[in-house]
Amino acid sequence: MMPEEFDRAKARAFTQLMVRHLEGAAVALMLEVGRRVGLFEAMAPMGAATSEEIAEKTGLSERYVREWLAAMVCGGVVEYAAAERTYRLPREHATALTGSSMRNLTSMVEMFPLLNRVIPDVADAFRTGRGVPYSAYQPDFTGLMDRRSRPRYDELLFTAYLAKPEGLMARLESGIRVADVGCGTGHCIVLMARRFPKSSFVGYDLSESGIASARAAAVGLGNASFVVRDVAELETSTPFDLVTAFDAIHDQADPAGVLRRIRAALEPGGTFLMLDVWASSELAENISAPMASYLYAMSTMHCMSVSLAAGGPGLGTAWGHQTAMRMLREAGFADVQLFERVDPANSLYVARRGA
Ligand SMILES: C[S@@+](CC[C@H](N)C(=O)[O-])C[C@H]1O[C@@H](n2cnc3c(N)ncnc32)[C@H](O)[C@@H]1O
Repeated sequence: MMPEEFDRAKARAFTQLMVRHLEGAAVALMLEVGRRVGLFEAMAPMGAATSEEIAEKTGLSERYVREWLAAMVCGGVVEYAAAERTYRLPREHATALTGSSMRNLTSMVEMFPLLNRVIPDVADAFRTGRGVPYSAYQPDFTGLMDRRSRPRYDELLFTAYLAKPEGLMARLESGIRVADVGCGTGHCIVLMARRFPKSSFVGYDLSESGIASARAAAVGLGNASFVVRDVAELETSTPFDLVTAFDAIHDQADPAGVLRRIRAALEPGGTFLMLDVWASSELAENISAPMASYLYAMSTMHCMSVSLAAGGPGLGTAWGHQTAMRMLREAGFADVQLFERVDPANSLYVARRGA
């Protein structure tokens, strides 16, 4: 066989791509430092300001602030007026870096230090294939997931998720029994319990700290309760009319078993509403999707790993709609609808128990 010719242009193009990846990683590092010390929130209302003014406002060391600003300017985050030596965080950029709306992307940057911490465990798992247990990500993971998903639920739970299945909002108004599996800190339950006082809600999660936060958040809500429970063992004497799972199925140790348990816990005709990451099950169809490399990285560093650690199949974050639809049908759900990209990152599956 002839050795393949070395394509110099291809090598140059790849080096440039590597440089962009390295720049992105460096900017991400600086974004996280800036977020932690409150620089974005401080700069957003300031307009053009010198490094001394920004340091004074934040009470931070000017030398550090100036070096950080240089990284932010070169990364296209902050604008620099060389003549005046002033820095400005444009309003259009501040939207993605500050505030409590889901447009603030810094909680996604916050994920990196947590995942950096488990690099040795993940590297070890590459050798053994045994995964990395949930406990390796605690105590930070539950709170971080909460910070990441809370703004999305505040903005979209009623308008984009619960509004999709026909008639569901009206049934919630009139009073039904609801369970949320993998409820984390219980924010969705709290939102629903407040809005639908005639319905009753129970949240299940493995995480004791998540359930403790959920109980604290639900004080005074008589229609919400929380249980530390492995949902692979979900059982109920009074079946539910609705079961929800927000971003909680693909990293299960036994996703097929959990789906069967959920179906069995529903009333005949009951609804299972599953929000999960938008992806195709086919890598080729994800390559050009936004954030696809982020998805596979999150999967390797967390979602796939926690499932494998518990002896599961390690479906991965990008298990995709083909696999999800098949597994829902295999679990016995009669009628499964897919609403793709109900938000920028997720799809919604609405599955009925059938008779
Ligand atoms: C990615 S987090 C999502 C949490 C929350 N639903 C949200 O959207 O913010 C997945 C949650 O599922 C929980 N979980 C994973 N496997 C579980 C199981 N077998 N039983 C109960 N909870 C589980 C985890 O503890 C975690 O809180």
